[in-house]
Amino acid sequence: MITLAHISDLHFGTEDPRTADRLAEELHALAPRLMIVSGDLTQRARRAQFRAARAYLDRLPQPLIVVPGNHDIPLYDVGRRTLSPMGRYRDMISDDLDPFHLEEDLAVLALNTTRPYRWKEGSISERQVQLIEDVFARAAPSSRRVLVTHHPFIPPPTAPKELVVHGQRAALPVIRASGVELLLAGHLHVGYADAVAGGPELLSVQAGTAISRRRRGQPNAYNVIRLVDDGIELEPRVWDGERFRVSPV
Ligand SMILES: [Fe+2]
Ligand SMILES: [Fe+2]
Repeated sequence: MITLAHISDLHFGTEDPRTADRLAEELHALAPRLMIVSGDLTQRARRAQFRAARAYLDRLPQPLIVVPGNHDIPLYDVGRRTLSPMGRYRDMISDDLDPFHLEEDLAVLALNTTRPYRWKEGSISERQVQLIEDVFARAAPSSRRVLVTHHPFIPPPTAPKELVVHGQRAALPVIRASGVELLLAGHLHVGYADAVAGGPELLSVQAGTAISRRRRGQPNAYNVIRLVDDGIELEPRVWDGERFRVSPV
């Protein structure tokens, strides 16, 4: 069994420090094989917000894999948005925007789906589709395979028309052919999960916002995911004002 912890949408600048402290404690108690952070580390891509996000990531269990979200690109600072949209993220969080974590029995690719010319929407490029094919080919045949993005592949049940990530029509056949069984994302601040339609089993799991006060009708939450022999166990943990409690799926 492989235990993964999936947190998303930290939005430093709007974080609740008490929730953040408790989350860090719980994650250490969980001791996951890998920490996954699916973007929106900051609220407005400000330097101080990245600094706080960096310090927080350093407090979490390691190893950790992280991708940027649309909030990690400056919105109002048009100069920076145009000339160096990922500059601060690269300086303070990670220079690798499409990181790949490879172990004997686990392969996790995280893709940067943010685009400076879009604000809220995400994309997967042709280069990234090729990357999916290339990196998962390096994993052992029996290895479990997970793909992480900020933008979800499926809309939430409450808004079935809500925009999902662009480029997925080209990406999905490659994702399936590469043996990926699990997609992890965030962005909408709503936790939900479902199978991706149109092919062999592929589960798409979204996390709500872990510690931000910018909630969209749902309390703060994160996901514990267990890759067991015969499938995937999803255990959302939802903030009750004191701690995160296991919530039924
Ligand atoms: Fe967000
Ligand atoms: Fe987002």
